[in-house]
Amino acid sequence: MTEKKYAAIVLAAGKGARMDSTVPKQYLELEGKPILYYSLLAFENSMVDEIILVAGKEDIEYCQKEIVEKYGFAKVSKVTAGGKERYHSVFSGLQELKREACVPDYVMIHDGARPLVDEAIILRSAEAVEEFQACVAGMPVKDTIKILDEYLFAVETPKREYVWQMQTPQTFEFSLIYEAYETLIHRENAGEVFHVTDDAMVAELICQKKVKLVEGSYRNIKITTPEDLKLAEVLLHIS
Ligand code: CTP
Ligand code: MG
Repeated sequence: MTEKKYAAIVLAAGKGARMDSTVPKQYLELEGKPILYYSLLAFENSMVDEIILVAGKEDIEYCQKEIVEKYGFAKVSKVTAGGKERYHSVFSGLQELKREACVPDYVMIHDGARPLVDEAIILRSAEAVEEFQACVAGMPVKDTIKILDEYLFAVETPKREYVWQMQTPQTFEFSLIYEAYETLIHRENAGEVFHVTDDAMVAELICQKKVKLVEGSYRNIKITTPEDLKLAEVLLHIS
């Protein structure tokens, strides 16, 4: 669909505290294969040209041998070490891409803990980023959402049609997101405190960039707590 160069950064450097398991959740098995295998497979089989896998320093060798080599993920060009917070891991991935002779035009940033991402979401993201420079996959919430005050009283009920849950991939023009992250890390090193939970926030906060929402899917769940793994097993079997 395009001549542009696409890279994906697949994040797997988290500890998975909410999963409460000894092995980081992205390495837990789903139908006999690590969760991370499924996210890598989706990008391996997509229009993306290259994948950077970001893992914990101590898991790089395991990822290289037991995932990348074992399953033959030819598009994974590098397995690199992540950082303390998710956004530090993203910046590690972006720095790897920046070092390349031919930097990508666009980058898709994906949680390795979302094994059910699919080709259609990747394609919708590619189409939107070429028009809007920054886009994230998401879905409208199903429940009514309340904003609370500090005493847990409901103070506001936003219109449900305008409340979406964010997913990944989050896709950007490479230069835009690289510069945004570089500024973020620079400002953090100078003492500013940031609470960044997704990549869209970085584009919004640092560059005032408007981020377009694209349709993800209700299947594209993030494995966060133990029941999510059960849910993913079910979802894997239904189309
Ligand atoms: N991640 C990462 N580096 C970090 C933190 C998170 O690469 N320092 C990755 C995770 O591996 C995951 C994705 O970012 O694929 C989304 O993060 P989350 O679901 O919060 O995973 P964890 O941080 O591992 O889990 P928890 O917050 O429960 O500890
Ligand atoms: Mg986390």
